[in-house]
Amino acid sequence: MEYLTEHYAEAPVWIVACLEEPKPSRMSGASIYPAVQNMLLAARALGLGSTLTTRHLLFEAEAEAALGLPPGVHSYAILPIGWPMGNFGPVGRGKLSEFVFLDEWGKPWDALEG
Ligand SMILES: Cc1cc2nc3c(=O)[nH]c(=O)nc-3n(C[C@H](O)[C@H](O)[C@H](O)COP(=O)(O)O)c2cc1C
Repeated sequence: MEYLTEHYAEAPVWIVACLEEPKPSRMSGASIYPAVQNMLLAARALGLGSTLTTRHLLFEAEAEAALGLPPGVHSYAILPIGWPMGNFGPVGRGKLSEFVFLDEWGKPWDALEG
């Protein structure tokens, strides 16, 4: 098994998605992650491999200093992008019944498969 972390630095392009906002919050995340998802879809439509990563935020201050971000600008995701080396087939999807509920959290929706 090979992990993304081992090849992260080899990606020829990274998109660092940033917002200029003094205090990052879930509301700011709601503003930027739809754009990030659109970038992932656009990359895939072009045959480019990419994925959403946020692990650098575990070292947010160091990472943002290394990226040279000015004060008040914060990163929300890094998308490493490159031409895929191997299998680039259909992506998997979990069972909807594991995370879609009816009326209240945890209540199964019988109409869903599996
Ligand atoms: C919010 C979010 C953040 C993620 N951050 C990372 C990350 O920092 N590093 C990483 O290797 N995978 C991260 N992942 C997982 C990758 O996006 C991806 O699912 C994983 O590398 C497996 O790739 P695959 O789904 O193509 O097999 C994250 C996923 C999500 C939803």
